[in-house]
Amino acid sequence: MAEVSKTLEDIYAAENPTSRAQFERDRRSMPGGAKGAYFYKPYPLTMQRGEGCYLYDVDERERVDFANHHTGQILGHNNPAVNAAIQAQLARGIALGAPTGNEVALAEEICRRVESVERLRFCNSGTEATLHAIRLARGFSGRPKIAKFEGGYHGSHDIVEVSVAPALDKAGPADAPYALATTGGTSPHAPAEVVVLPYNNEEAVEELVRRHRDELACVILDPKAGILPLRQEFVRAVRRVTEENDVLLILDEVVGFRVGEGGIQEYYGISPDLTTFGKLIGGGFPVGAFGGRADIMNLFDTSRGATGFFQSGTFSAHAVVMAAGLATVRQLTPAAFAHLNGLGERLRARLGALFARIDVPAQAVVLGSLFSIYFTAEPLVNYRSLATNNGGMAQRVFLSLLNQGYFLSQGLTMNSLSLPMQESHIDGLVQALEQAIEQATRL
Ligand SMILES: Cc1ncc(COP(=O)(O)O)c(C=O)c1O
Repeated sequence: MAEVSKTLEDIYAAENPTSRAQFERDRRSMPGGAKGAYFYKPYPLTMQRGEGCYLYDVDERERVDFANHHTGQILGHNNPAVNAAIQAQLARGIALGAPTGNEVALAEEICRRVESVERLRFCNSGTEATLHAIRLARGFSGRPKIAKFEGGYHGSHDIVEVSVAPALDKAGPADAPYALATTGGTSPHAPAEVVVLPYNNEEAVEELVRRHRDELACVILDPKAGILPLRQEFVRAVRRVTEENDVLLILDEVVGFRVGEGGIQEYYGISPDLTTFGKLIGGGFPVGAFGGRADIMNLFDTSRGATGFFQSGTFSAHAVVMAAGLATVRQLTPAAFAHLNGLGERLRARLGALFARIDVPAQAVVLGSLFSIYFTAEPLVNYRSLATNNGGMAQRVFLSLLNQGYFLSQGLTMNSLSLPMQESHIDGLVQALEQAIEQATRL
């Protein structure tokens, strides 16, 4: 096995010398490179440009982009209408320190699409969106704690960085997981303020929410669970249980909003109290937003006097970001979603057929235009079953796919499609994947 990965790494190293030199330079001023999520072994590719569904690295190799900048680039790269909107705003000014009209146009577009969102506020990342939504939920309810799901990722502020990827031998009972800090430096108060819930287990969620209801401000849920399919009845049960116990539900659609016009909440048929957004709504720029019930969101309306609540940020609702976001969201028509999600269905069928044919235990999870690939035979129901994924295998397959001209998310767990893709891209990926699995298991 070591020999195979060595071969895969050798091919990679031989074909990507300029990226290696770039990485060596990067790490001298930035610890480990540009950012945590960019690193993979032996070193990451440095990209020089993107066009449609293709990326071109600094050695001029073309790859089909199935990562799409952490799922955000739903239109692919260099989209003409997005570029035109950016250029038009650049000509008017970049940062004017006042509303420009772009932000209200994007807010109206999102409110129109997502029924539960009556009011919306912008910020600069998904992290900020969940931070502000949680703070608002605490202020509105007057209760200190939150509940989140084991394995759920909602950004990088302390309270949501609890039990994102806990070691299984420390994680406690599956139906009442312990709250564990994910990264060094987390405040010791953070885990103490979090009730950790298991995915796809209605009884446990009901019991934990009921037990903690008097101290719970909210439950935060990403219904595509980062990477795991949640049963429709389960997501609806979470909505019912939160409602019955008078606990707010924050639906995290930072990624899920790419599933359909009305967001992932329309897919699941639920109406949350608050929703968080990010990624695609900035058209490729840093963005976040949170919104929901007017009676909660209006705590930010200080135009009629102080409410005790405030949210702002130097770059929040930035004119260029809003212009790019609006030009992106407007292109997400029913026809666009039909194309994207149709390709997703094709991918599901093709991957299912492939995995049924080969001896290697592998599974694909596809939701709309999002997909994940796992190497495990374990039924995927919660964080603990995902933890049985053969990460070494995923890494070797990822590298082989890179060598074959396919750029996926590292670990293969958060891949996505983009609008310029055609059936041939899906079929090409499945073919390359078969070869990648063969290469990764050969010896
Ligand atoms: C579901 C979810 N919520 C929140 C975030 C945080 O967003 P950002 O990276 O923009 O801070 C992410 C990022 O991947 C995410 O997937």
